[in-house]
Parts: sequence; C-alpha cells; structure tokens
Amino acid sequence: MSVSAATAQPGDGVVRERQRDMKAMAAAAKSIDSVFKGTSPYDAKAFKSAAETIRVYSGKRLSELFVGPVVADGSKASASIEAERPTFDQLATNLGAYAEALSVAADHNPDVLAPDMRMQGTDATMGGPLAKRNAAMPDPMSMPAEHAFHMMLQVCTSCHAKFRTKDN
Ligand code: HEC
Repeated sequence: MSVSAATAQPGDGVVRERQRDMKAMAAAAKSIDSVFKGTSPYDAKAFKSAAETIRVYSGKRLSELFVGPVVADGSKASASIEAERPTFDQLATNLGAYAEALSVAADHNPDVLAPDMRMQGTDATMGGPLAKRNAAMPDPMSMPAEHAFHMMLQVCTSCHAKFRTKDN
C-alpha cells in the first residue's frame, strides 16, 4: 500500500492507522465519560485501561502519524499541521499528560470513584498555587481526575478545531 510514496502523500496505511487510533481514543474517552456521568460503574482496571489507551496513542506516537506531508485523500488532516507543527505536537503531548493523570488516579483509587476524583466547584477557575507554573497548562496531576478528563476533552476539541478539516 506504499504506492503513493511518489505523490508525496502519506500512505493509505498511515491514514488508516491515524483514524483507527483516533477511534480507539474516542471509544476510551466515551467509556471514561460514562463512569463520571454515573451510567457505568467504576472499575479501576477498566478506567485505567481506557486512560492508557489514550496515553499510548497520544504524544510522540500521535505526532509521528502526522509527520511530513499530511494531506491525503480520505483524510481530514489539515495542511496547517505542517505549518504549525510545534502547536500540533504540544497538543499531542498535553493529551498524554492528562491521560497519564487519569491512569495514575485509577492506581490511587482501586476500589471506588473517590470524592476527590470529582471536580470541585473551584476547579473551574483553574486557580491554585500551580496555575502560574505554566499558564497554558496547569499540572494535570494536581487536579481531580474529573477535571483532568474535561481538560483532556478540550485538547481533543482544540486540536480538531485547528487541525482537522470539516470536509475532505
Ligand atoms: C494533536 C491533534 C489531535 C488531538 C489531540 C486529537 N485529535 Fe482526533 N483527529 C486529529 C486529526 C488531524 C484528525 C483527522 C485524521 C485524518 O482523517 O487523517 C482526527 C480525527 C479524529 C476522529 C475521526 C477518525 C476517523 O475515523 O476519521 C476521531 C473520532 C477523533 N479524532 C477523536 C479524538 C479524541 C476522542 C481525542 C482526544 C481523546 C482526539 N481525537 C485528539 C487530531 C487530533
């Protein structure tokens, strides 16, 4: 399936892999969401495995699937990825940091979805002593898991808004 090499497009295999990874992340995010919404019971192992799915598919692995000329038939990857690579890579890295925080939260809470995993009223302000450490991204480990989850979904949304085209 690498016949497209000469046309400076990523191979079909790469596009399929990107989309497969993204779908896997979407399924994982949905399963975590249903736990916070209370429509699925909390199971630390399942929660961790969903968080790990996102962690594994984020960061470097995500970035590397969009290296070089990213625009291809059947892909919604935007050409702006090539022009704004550092921003794209930063979003991929941030995604992994939030996913890792969720994974660690599952380790710390083997039995129940503890109250301190829940978003507190003040979280919405993103204040606190660590807020200034990195204005663009508060420390995911220092926030309740539910907050990290919402921040993580914002990373998905931000990247799609900036780097995924609406139509092919
Ligand atoms: C760093 C950027 C980035 C991040 C972060 C990101 N995505 Fe994506 N996503 C993309 C791009 C670009 C595409 C289009 C890929 C293509 O069509 O080649 C995409 C496509 C998708 C698709 C469609 C896949 C298909 O079958 O065509 C889904 C679903 C998706 N993303 C879910 C998610 C979820 C859920 C998250 C967060 C947990 C996430 N993405 C995080 C960039 C990102």
